Amino acid sequence: MKKIAFLLFATLFTIPVIAQDKMIELPKPEITGGMPIMDALNNRSSQREFSDKDLSMQEISNVLWAAWGINRKSGKHTAPSSRNKQEMDVYISIKKGVFLYIPEKNALQLIMDKDIRKETGGQDFVGKAPLNLIFVANYKKAESTSEEYKCTSGVNAGFMSQNVYLYCASKKLASVVRGWFDAEKLHKMLGLEDYQEVILCHTVGFPTK
Ligand SMILES: Cc1cc2nc3c(=O)[nH]c(=O)nc-3n(C[C@H](O)[C@H](O)[C@H](O)COP(=O)(O)O)c2cc1C
Repeated sequence: MKKIAFLLFATLFTIPVIAQDKMIELPKPEITGGMPIMDALNNRSSQREFSDKDLSMQEISNVLWAAWGINRKSGKHTAPSSRNKQEMDVYISIKKGVFLYIPEKNALQLIMDKDIRKETGGQDFVGKAPLNLIFVANYKKAESTSEEYKCTSGVNAGFMSQNVYLYCASKKLASVVRGWFDAEKLHKMLGLEDYQEVILCHTVGFPTK
């Protein structure tokens, strides 16, 4: 009986969980190749029709690295941040739950094992697309306040979003940045602190055609 329960659990939860601290190791991001940058720029667009096909963990790892991965020994990222405060965090909402991206470990930290994709925005496609990125500012890291820093964090999130757009263009994935979401509701659902704020969301998936 115990064996059957274990097999059932293993089948249902196929992502490799590392340890009790609920960290999930991501595949190493593929950081070479892809489309030439000018072609990717030429192909970048917002798309709002998604198939319900899942992204692989490799593709999720690649998207996250494009958004906010570490690309130098200095610990700096694929996107710039004002005064190098690196105040942005990326959460993802996928079928299996909500996770926080930990770039230093190339890992995901489980926040909740619940599918809240449709709660991450006001448009129908957000519940169907396999991946919603949620860009969150941490004003404590910025050593500032929402009033002073929201605009700066908006710019920083914009760079991350453009990186995602270009990765998606390069891989023929569909994606759209989104400012249409209930910030208060998401703040609560993600269990964020009062010095954190949801700035932008970005939906990623496969196009329908
Ligand atoms: C800050 C920002 C917020 C946006 N919010 C949304 C959104 O909530 N929903 C949506 O469908 N598109 C959103 N967009 C995408 C724009 O509608 C889109 O970029 C615009 O129509 C131009 O199309 P293009 O990206 O294909 O060039 C947003 C874009 C930006 C820059």
